[in-house]
Amino acid sequence: MSAIQKIINPVSAEETDMTAEFINGLAYPDFVGFINQWNVLPGSHVTLSKWINFADITSDSRLMQFACTTGFQSREIAMRTGCTAKAFDLSPYAIWAANYNVKNYAPSAKVEYFCADGHTYDSDEKFTHVAIGAGLKFFKDPQHTLKRCISFLEDGGYFLASPFYLSEELPDELVKKAQTVFGITPTTEGYKEIMSMYQDLEILYEDRNDLIPETEEELKNYCEATIKRACDIHGISNEELYETMYNRLYRVKEMSNLLRPYQRYSTLVLRYRECVYPNRYVELF
Ligand SMILES: C[S@@+](CC[C@H](N)C(=O)[O-])C[C@H]1O[C@@H](n2cnc3c(N)ncnc32)[C@H](O)[C@@H]1O
Repeated sequence: MSAIQKIINPVSAEETDMTAEFINGLAYPDFVGFINQWNVLPGSHVTLSKWINFADITSDSRLMQFACTTGFQSREIAMRTGCTAKAFDLSPYAIWAANYNVKNYAPSAKVEYFCADGHTYDSDEKFTHVAIGAGLKFFKDPQHTLKRCISFLEDGGYFLASPFYLSEELPDELVKKAQTVFGITPTTEGYKEIMSMYQDLEILYEDRNDLIPETEEELKNYCEATIKRACDIHGISNEELYETMYNRLYRVKEMSNLLRPYQRYSTLVLRYRECVYPNRYVELF
């Protein structure tokens, strides 16, 4: 077994020489995968319900999820609609967790997870839907990645996103703090700037939503549930490792919470049609 396989497989912490340094040294997406955080898109289940409804996802649909983390979007949509899905992520830890989740929480879902780089991954297969949530921001060139996502769509297919945008300027110190926690720059653009990315596609459904910060009680409850499960999965009984994982997740959640008063997000269902793309013949409202 390779070092990564040894660590992410549910074997005892002692066997893998797991340490607090190892946990703190993981890159943010690997940490999310390692603890199997259900790191969801803005709006969570509610956004998925809107997508299913307004993008007509049925058992005949074929969905591709870009940068799937621990698999929430593809797993839930495949389970709820009976569609088939494929999903990939750069992090082997995330893909390990996505496979764990589908097996344990949605065994009937027809979804395949694999490791791939969204900058280079290619497929001859075309999909009826491509979903990314707020994931475009995790790519070096989001506009280029969006073009790649569109290239996976069949004519008349839907692109599903839920991007953040700023409702007021984010103080520099918060931008810097978020960079250290997430390893990327959080959204610093306003509504029009974010929406301009999608100008080549038709907007079939859009809404704009506030984010309500979570209470300390809610944060603790979430972190406790997630880290207790991670300890069970990895066979960790050591108090120091529990605390290390809990504290890191709490810092991540606290950071997201600090950003919330400055952010809003849109739920988007965008259509790609060869006869229209990349023109916009419909006014904006
Ligand atoms: C934190 S998640 C997105 C958050 C949330 N799932 C959402 O939809 O809003 C970002 C994911 O993008 C993945 N990622 C970053 N660069 C990537 C790439 N080049 N190819 C594939 N996945 C990538 C990371 O591994 C991480 O799991």
